[in-house]
Amino acid sequence: MSRTVLFYEREDYYDFKAGKALEGIKIVSISKYARNLDLINEINVDEEIIDISVLTEYNNMQFVGEQVINQFDDFPLFICDSSKRETIEYELRFVFDEFSEVDKDTFIKSKNEGRIEKDVVIEKKHKKIIDLSDNELEQFFTDFNEALYGHPKFKDDFAEQVRAFRIFNKLKEHKVLSLFLMGDSGVGKTEVARSIFKCLNGKKKFAKINFGNYSTESSLSSLIGSARGYIGSEDGEIFMKVRETDVGVLLIDEFEKSNSTLFNYFLDVLESGKMTSSMGEEIDINGFIIVFTSNISKENFQNRISPELRSRFDYKCMFTLLGNEDKRKYIEFRVTSISKKVQAEYLIDIEENLRAFLLQEINVSMFNNMRDINKQIKRKFLKYSTTYLLSDEVEQGEEEQEISNVSWKRRFLNFFKD
Ligand SMILES: Nc1ncnc2c1ncn2[C@@H]1O[C@H](COP(=O)(O)OP(=O)(O)OP(=O)(O)O)[C@@H](O)[C@H]1O
Ligand SMILES: [Mg+2]
Repeated sequence: MSRTVLFYEREDYYDFKAGKALEGIKIVSISKYARNLDLINEINVDEEIIDISVLTEYNNMQFVGEQVINQFDDFPLFICDSSKRETIEYELRFVFDEFSEVDKDTFIKSKNEGRIEKDVVIEKKHKKIIDLSDNELEQFFTDFNEALYGHPKFKDDFAEQVRAFRIFNKLKEHKVLSLFLMGDSGVGKTEVARSIFKCLNGKKKFAKINFGNYSTESSLSSLIGSARGYIGSEDGEIFMKVRETDVGVLLIDEFEKSNSTLFNYFLDVLESGKMTSSMGEEIDINGFIIVFTSNISKENFQNRISPELRSRFDYKCMFTLLGNEDKRKYIEFRVTSISKKVQAEYLIDIEENLRAFLLQEINVSMFNNMRDINKQIKRKFLKYSTTYLLSDEVEQGEEEQEISNVSWKRRFLNFFKD
């Protein structure tokens, strides 16, 4: 088969990407393979198209291009931004036999069934709090209040914020609802955003960015994109995450770790309801909720974050530690979920028994971070399983018993996977 690279026009890129996705084909950047050559052996050429535009960013692109592309036994389809055509044709002349253009009409099967409008794909696909009917909104709050333990004041305020947001958003006066949550580790700040996602019935990926990864001065360009295809994400992590999710909620973790350039970018996003990439492309995030979280103390909040930005957050809240009652509720919730999995696998109902066991074994007042409680649940569950579930096992030699315990343990740990 001849080794071909097809060039596409930048403006068609998202049509292609969305169209190919409908056919079950992903467009991935070559940087994925440049970073880990072993992955090349695992490629399924019917499911991936490789975008090589990023190669022009490398100083030694000829060398990298040859090294990587020549490793492919099964030759996938390679595509490239047409603005890089000249460079690619010259530098990779020994790698490819043919350089040609994407034929727009046949490249995407579903094109014939109707043009995929970029804007439609992006705007309509997110489920947003502003689009719920009144009944759906009530259901949302019921589910949300059940999913998040404790924090009663926050829950009331949140409901009020959302109701106001829905009204002012309709009047085009309020584009994005922004919440800034501070407080100790493991008390549910991130869980707020995750619960909003779940309660809006998110099925795809939950959009989360950790600003801890964006602490240098060049961060903005990796967040909102430099040249297409750079380091695995075509136009910056934030755009990729928003495109990949199906719910209008975005989590920005460790907000205080970034720098003023990023803060200023976000000032603009909150104001305009639009995110603009460095390539000038826009994503409309009107109606989104952005949850910012931070472990910052109240004093540092005043020092680190400019008054201008502070005043832009619609709502700020300091999350306090959970009470013992809420921690116990959390254990009960975990028991229900673990028991369901055990029931499905082993057809035994351990729920009541396990609940009593864990509530007795775990002294919740010793732990404030729910992650530590999770670890305790895991540890005690293993104890429970070896004490109660394995004691009925047939008589075995000591060594066999040991081995069987290990494999039981391994299987039991699967119950903790989501
Ligand atoms: N109030 C809560 N309700 C429900 N689950 C919670 C709550 N608090 C913590 N959890 C659970 O504990 C784990 C840690 O919580 P989460 O990630 O929200 O912590 P966090 O406050 O964001 O902490 P950090 O500041 O370290 O990021 C999660 O698995 C979450 O499900
Ligand atoms: Mg968190």
